[in-house]
This record gives sequence, structure tokens and C-alpha cells, in this order.
Amino acid sequence: MRVLVVGSGGREHAMGRALATTPDIEILAAPGNPGTAQVGRNLPIATDDIAGLVEAARREEVDLVIPGPESPLVAGLTDALADAGIPSCGPTAAAARLEGSKAFTRSLADAAGVPSPVFRVVGTTSEIDDALGSFDSPPVIKADGLAGGKGVFLPDTFDECEEIARGLLAGRLGDAGATVVFEERLVGMEASLFHACRGTEVVALPHAMDHKRLFDADRGPNTGGMGAVSPNPVGDAALEEATRERIVLPALRRLADEGYPFHGFLFSGLMITTARPVLLEFNVRLGDPEAQVVLPRLPDGAFAEVCAWVAGLRADPPEIDLDPRPTCAVVLAAEGYPESPRRGDPITISPGLDTKDRWFVHAGTRLSDGTLVTDGGRVGAVVSRGATAVDARRGAYDGVSLVQWAGMTHRSDIGVSLHG
Ligand code: AMP
Ligand code: GLY
Repeated sequence: MRVLVVGSGGREHAMGRALATTPDIEILAAPGNPGTAQVGRNLPIATDDIAGLVEAARREEVDLVIPGPESPLVAGLTDALADAGIPSCGPTAAAARLEGSKAFTRSLADAAGVPSPVFRVVGTTSEIDDALGSFDSPPVIKADGLAGGKGVFLPDTFDECEEIARGLLAGRLGDAGATVVFEERLVGMEASLFHACRGTEVVALPHAMDHKRLFDADRGPNTGGMGAVSPNPVGDAALEEATRERIVLPALRRLADEGYPFHGFLFSGLMITTARPVLLEFNVRLGDPEAQVVLPRLPDGAFAEVCAWVAGLRADPPEIDLDPRPTCAVVLAAEGYPESPRRGDPITISPGLDTKDRWFVHAGTRLSDGTLVTDGGRVGAVVSRGATAVDARRGAYDGVSLVQWAGMTHRSDIGVSLHG
């Protein structure tokens, strides 16, 4: 089997590593990074170059395309591949609206009876006052469209809410903010649950907790994610069942009924309030850095089997016996992340880092004349597994001390803080 992984982050290196546990697989990555180059062959094609990706998949005669990030999916990568007769394990553009439009998802969730925050959709400044007036306390403000993790605001006052909404409608985030969603602000613990989906059939993957804030104790701005652990400390069988039965399956059935069956990886971002999960968001892909902790808990060969099932290349879903050992990923970021990360600093990784139970996942790295240098905000992550969550965390932080570059930053409480 020859597969093409689309993307260039830590998630895509983690996907490459998981695919590499299948015998006789050939892995291509576009554009990939120095990590994917360790498990396969990189092709110099940008993630948003849909025509280029389809052409490469055809030229290389790949059996399956495995998209990592959301943007090519929302832009129609799977549709373009289908036109060329190439299987993909990502959703069509119509189904990818689950991530591409928060207003679409809120309406769908409402229609499907999925537990959700109270929300209002606002398209012009004249609607702001009325919408704000319907909340007892300042709501969360979200740009409707894709904003690369920068479209969610948690203001403390109604005045700030108004200012942010006006800024978005005035084009502060471009088209992504042309429509704005106001949402009741929920309090609780967060969880990221993942399902491989084929229409209305699902296979549950391990769950995780992401740590989104830049600084320890959940302070500072939201980021793409500064670290993750799997399993989620509050993830039990009851949460898994409630998420599947009350959130994932109703949404998938509704999408299928509307004519947009979802084939791909569905990421449910949940807030657990008074013991029940409420849907914060769907994403149409695996999370980053969640994939780095979720995929190593699958048995060897299972990720490729799941991808093949999602894409319709095999009839029956694979049976998956999860590795019970917890995993922990600590993201190492460049100075200036997330606003303006510095690039080009040489990275040293001590040879002792890589063991059977610990490894470095590349994200924003690049080889410059044979030297590994930083090339993005989230540069990489140290991932470790252990007999217990404490062992996994200790292993990851021991590994962090073996990586170095000028200005390297990381959180020191991944797996300790319970709020994400
Ligand atoms: P999202 O991208 O929609 O998951 O939002 C990013 C982060 O903002 C989430 O992980 C939460 O920490 C926070 N958030 C989003 N929506 C809400 C909400 N309705 N109530 C409280 N926090 C939220
Ligand atoms: N870690 C959250 C995300 O991938 O969106």
C-alpha cells in the first residue's frame, strides 16, 4: 500500500510514525517535514495546492490520501481526489463545514438535539446589541470561519464582547469573521474525543486532553496546543458512551440525512459541565498535538487499517485493542510563539532522547545545510508513554531536558493542570 499524508506539522509526523507500523507500506508526505522524511518521502507540494496534490497522488499512483489539516478539506481536496478516482480518508467540502463554519455546526447540532451552549449568529453590527442582550454574562465570541486557532475570544465584559464583535465584522480576521457566533460561556473540564467515521458508522479512537493556553496554570493566550495527554483524565466509559450516543451519532445522522455523509476523523471538543458533555466544537481531522498522544496508543498496523476502512478500501472496521499505557506530549515552542516565532535557530537533540517509549515529533523544523533548525512556532514535541500518567509525564519532561535551542519555551505543567 502506498499512502500520501498531507500536511507538515507534528500531527503529520505522528501519522507517519503510526502508518510506519504497517509492514510493506510506502509513505509519502506533502509537504512533510524532517520527521516525515524519517518514515517516508517528502514531496514539495503545499497543503493548499489542491490541484498539485491531486496530480502528485495520480503520478505516484497512491492507494490512499490521508489529509492532516482542515484547510485543504474545507477547500475540497477530497472532492477533487474523488473526481480523479483517488480514495481519501477525509470528508468532502460539504461535510467539512462542520469545522469550516461554526454557525453551520451550531445549527446542525441544534437540529440534531446535541447538547450545546446557547448561541446567537450575528452578521451585521446592528444585530450586536440585541444578541448581547440575550446573555446574562459575557458570551464567548467566535469567528464563523477558519481562523487558524485565532478566532475564539473569551472576553470578561460586555464592552469587550462588543469591541471584538465589531472588529471581526470590520474584517479583522478577513472573511472568517464576516459572520460571528456568540456562545454562552461554559465552565468545566475539557476533553478531545476522536472517532473514525464512515457515514453513520464509527470507530472510537483514544481520547485526550489538550492544553491550549500558552502559560502554566492555563494562563496567557490560546495557542494551537502546548501539550496533550491520553487518556483524558476524566474520560471514562460513561463519557465515551454519552459522546458517541448524544453528540457524534446524532450529528453524523443529521449530516447524512441532509445529503453530506461524513467520512473522516471527527474531533469532538467537549466541555464537561455538571457531569454531562457539551459540544464546544467539531473539527474534521485529528488534533495537533492530540494525534501525537492518541496514535501511539493504537496497536501496530491499526492506523492504516482504520484509514483504509474510512476510505472504503476495506469492508469491516478493524478491532482495536488500545494500549492502556498513558502517553504525554510536551510541545516545544520557539521564542515569540504564537505571535511572531523566531525561526532559524539550530536545534540540538541528545541521542539519549529516543527510546522504545519516548521520541521527538517534528513540527516546525527544517534542515539547513544538514543542520536541523527551527522553522515555526511549535517546533516539535517530546512524546513519552509510561506505566502510569505520572511516568509518562516524567519521561516526557526528562526528554525535554535533552532538547535545546536558543529561546526554546514550553509549559511545565502538561498532564498536571486539569483544565486544558
Ligand atoms: P474552540 O476552537 O471552539 O474549541 O475554542 C477554543 C477554546 O476556547 C476551547 O478549547 C475552550 O477552552 C474555549 N471555549 C470555546 N467555546 C467555549 C464556550 N462556549 N465556553 C467556554 N469556553 C469556550
Ligand atoms: N489541539 C487542537 C486542535 O488541533 O485544534
